[in-house]
Amino acid sequence: MKFYQLKPEARRKLLQDEGIALEQIDDAVLKRLDELSENVIGQLRLPLGIVQNLEVNGQKYLVPMAVEEPSVVAAANHGANIFAKNGGVIAQSKRQGIYGQIVLQVNNSFSLQQLEQKFPELIKLANQKFDSLVRHGGGTKEITAVQKENLLYLKVLVDPAEAMGANKTNSILEFLAAKLENYAGIEQKLFAILSNYPSQLTTAKVKIDPKTIGGIQIAQRIALLGQIGIDDPYRAVTNNKGIMNGADAALLATGNDYRAIEAATAVLASQDGQYRSLSKWTMSDGYLLGELTLPMAIGVVGGSIKARRDVQQSFAILGQKITSKTLAEIIVSVALANNLAALLAISTVGIQAGHMKLQARNIAAALTNDEKEQKQLLKAMINEKNYSESHAKELLKKIREEN
Ligand code: MEV
Repeated sequence: MKFYQLKPEARRKLLQDEGIALEQIDDAVLKRLDELSENVIGQLRLPLGIVQNLEVNGQKYLVPMAVEEPSVVAAANHGANIFAKNGGVIAQSKRQGIYGQIVLQVNNSFSLQQLEQKFPELIKLANQKFDSLVRHGGGTKEITAVQKENLLYLKVLVDPAEAMGANKTNSILEFLAAKLENYAGIEQKLFAILSNYPSQLTTAKVKIDPKTIGGIQIAQRIALLGQIGIDDPYRAVTNNKGIMNGADAALLATGNDYRAIEAATAVLASQDGQYRSLSKWTMSDGYLLGELTLPMAIGVVGGSIKARRDVQQSFAILGQKITSKTLAEIIVSVALANNLAALLAISTVGIQAGHMKLQARNIAAALTNDEKEQKQLLKAMINEKNYSESHAKELLKKIREEN
């Protein structure tokens, strides 16, 4: 039997026989995970943190974040609290659909004009075939085409309703490609697959009174840092990493495909040929204005979302009735909160003060399981403002001698 055909227990045994120590796992959990993925032998767990006070379009949300970096959750909360003092975030996701691509080889008898006349009929056929998507409020919306020599590039816009829509879009594209192969002048299909090109664009905006972030000078410094992020790729990529800290953690917690969003985001950041910051921070009439647009091809159903209890827990935290439009708006707002908190930290005290305090908890937990010792060690590290592991080991030695 091939490895993938084995039961997960048998796969685990093979690894253990090689001398690899595996974590204990509950049989029922292992069985469930095996249904979700491939070659499963265990699980990787991430802490689930909460953004407590995120206000988006007049509504307050608790937002789950799955991430191992404590400062990411702390930053999101810090940013969200500042937003709450400033009337919250105004966000909008238009959910216009996601793109699919069909590329075909054509010969000299092919006429693009003639094929274009067939597009309405093809859309109708696709919507008849995939009528359940239409019943859920989505469907195939538009087909456009560009010919480059003997290659025909078709772009198909699909509204996936409340899902991310990757699987459904791929099925629609393969259905359309099979129909197209019978048209005059079309030699063969090269491929038919969804495109992760930025779509479902979602924008979050905030207007910050400088008084709520320590004054006008700090607000101006943030605007200047924002401009540096637009002008300088070295800063832009770090700024965008801070943005994706928030986005990815919320995407992961809600069972969404963060790889797709990351890939699309890179395109959005380099639209004019230079990689730039995804967010804009400017001063206007004495206020600091922040704005962020991200591609949010996400869903609240589909994929493994309904099958995963951990993800369902996240939806319960958000409020069960959440739509994909609202979720997109929440995720971009969290990302903007992370961005503001990072800019605020680096334009004032620097990032390490907060980071290292939070990181110290991890170091203390790694060095001792005893809660009392952990507390004492953490206190000593903070007092001495030294967060290196070697120093922590020395401190722990002293604590143990004193105890
Ligand atoms: C660290 O995870 C993220 C930051 O570097 C982002 C930034 O510099 O804007 C703090």
